[in-house]
Amino acid sequence: MAPRLGVNVDHVATLRQVRRATYPDPVAAAQLAELGGADQITIHLREDRRHIQDRDLRVLRQTVTTRLNLEMAATAEMVKTAYEVKPDECTLVPERREELTTEGGLDAAGQRDHIRKIVKTLRDADILVSLFIDPDVDQVRAAHRAEAQVIEIHTGRYCDARLPGDQRRELARIVDAAKAAARLGLAVAAGHGLNYRNAAPVAAIAEIEEFNIGHAIVARAVLVGMERAVREMKELLAAGAAGR
Ligand code: PXP
Repeated sequence: MAPRLGVNVDHVATLRQVRRATYPDPVAAAQLAELGGADQITIHLREDRRHIQDRDLRVLRQTVTTRLNLEMAATAEMVKTAYEVKPDECTLVPERREELTTEGGLDAAGQRDHIRKIVKTLRDADILVSLFIDPDVDQVRAAHRAEAQVIEIHTGRYCDARLPGDQRRELARIVDAAKAAARLGLAVAAGHGLNYRNAAPVAAIAEIEEFNIGHAIVARAVLVGMERAVREMKELLAAGAAGR
């Protein structure tokens, strides 16, 4: 079966925030993404509010007709926000103010008690909980012990690899992590840095049910429109998955 596509619309908000304007609106982008076939809308409400704003989260909760996945830091402030807004899913991500984007996975193994507590609090509100982790079997096991239902595998190192040997090695780490997670009964998603050139080999991994892709889709949407950019990515993932 073809994997689901979560479209991350953060960078539509980035374009708005560079001018502190009212447009382009990530809410409009999300509607067009759904028309193009998005299975989910994903946003990251960062502590510094550099792109998505609290208003975007609230309005998207009212307007998204598929599913809303909120990426967030594992903090009390964000848990409170999640309780108020009730996204369908929360993806816990590490967050550092100085980073350009989320640079590594969550250390589910190192912060075990803290993560487990936050997972439980969110699950108690009937929110599905995903942990964004590096493709590392120890982190997969830690996510399982923390009682998350989903892991999202950080594909950044695979995407950054330039030499074919490095790409193969990084892809193999993703395969191992995905298989380990599936054996433990975790649902598996993947994302970060994926684009129209590098996503297909990851889509061929049978255990990965969902992709969350933002920058590449928004960048293409600027040139060809959001519906088309999403449709093309869906087709590409389906073609990659056809070889599973
Ligand atoms: N998944 C997670 C957990 C992320 O933090 C991000 C970046 O916000 C993405 C997916 C999407 O990454 P990209 O914008 O590189 O496609």
